[in-house]
Amino acid sequence: MIGFIGAGNMAGALARGWGEPVLATDSGSGRAAALVEELGGETLGDNAELVRRADAVVLGHKPYQLEQVAAGVGDAATGKTVISILGGTSIAQLQAAFPQSTVIRAVPNTPVALRRGVTCIAEGGEQAVALFERVGSVFVLPESQMSVALATTSVMPAYVALVAEAAIDAGVRGGLPAARATEMFLATLAGSAELLIARGGDTLTVRREVTSPGGSTARGLAALERNGLRTAFDEALQAVIGG
Ligand SMILES: NC(=O)c1ccc[n+]([C@@H]2O[C@H](COP(=O)([O-])OP(=O)(O)OC[C@H]3O[C@@H](n4cnc5c(N)ncnc54)[C@H](OP(=O)(O)O)[C@@H]3O)[C@@H](O)[C@H]2O)c1
Repeated sequence: MIGFIGAGNMAGALARGWGEPVLATDSGSGRAAALVEELGGETLGDNAELVRRADAVVLGHKPYQLEQVAAGVGDAATGKTVISILGGTSIAQLQAAFPQSTVIRAVPNTPVALRRGVTCIAEGGEQAVALFERVGSVFVLPESQMSVALATTSVMPAYVALVAEAAIDAGVRGGLPAARATEMFLATLAGSAELLIARGGDTLTVRREVTSPGGSTARGLAALERNGLRTAFDEALQAVIGG
């Protein structure tokens, strides 16, 4: 069984995507018990016992808790595979915390819960590729690119939700009932993503196909540019990477 230290949003999404019984701990909220109730397995009161009993361990707590968690696990991690999903935590830091373990650095995103996730794995962690392919696409990257990966894939479900909210609100201001605007926008979003994929990621072609010279789409795109869409994404990336 996979053992999860922490049963929060990201660990829960992975566990649900894998869809198998788990060993899990939390820091007292009851989220581990809720996960076990859903998937089967066992809630444990002690991270060291979890690590001893798990086939592989996923670190699903917050990054700043690494040293405290590793100290609690101690020798139990000897010879184990420890998969970290901790944002901004390097392989060197992980290896220092778990010197007797095989450590893997992965950056997943929450659509793994639907097996439509994207997981980036730092080079050296290839043995985890098949596991994460069960819950979506996997990209193996040099470790130096993992921060940018986090800033463009992990955070993206939140950005897309914000974009959806803004577009739906605009539709409501334009006179659409909210439920109808939501349904229409989400269908458009899914279809547009499929179209971009079908066009091999050629964003310019997709834009040109919608944009008549001097037409309404051209006016809408210009308004988005004037209001700093590109700068907003660029600054968001810098904000994420900068911590
Ligand atoms: N959320 C995302 O989309 C996302 C994406 C990529 C990577 N990550 C990474 O995933 C990690 C978790 O993020 P999250 O958003 O899932 O946070 P979260 O929902 O707050 O979950 C953190 C979990 O860790 C548990 N925990 C804290 N200290 C613990 C300890 N000593 N022993 C066992 N469990 C402990 C918490 O317990 P309680 O439930 O009792 O509070 C909670 O279940 C972070 O390192 C983050 O960088 C998140």
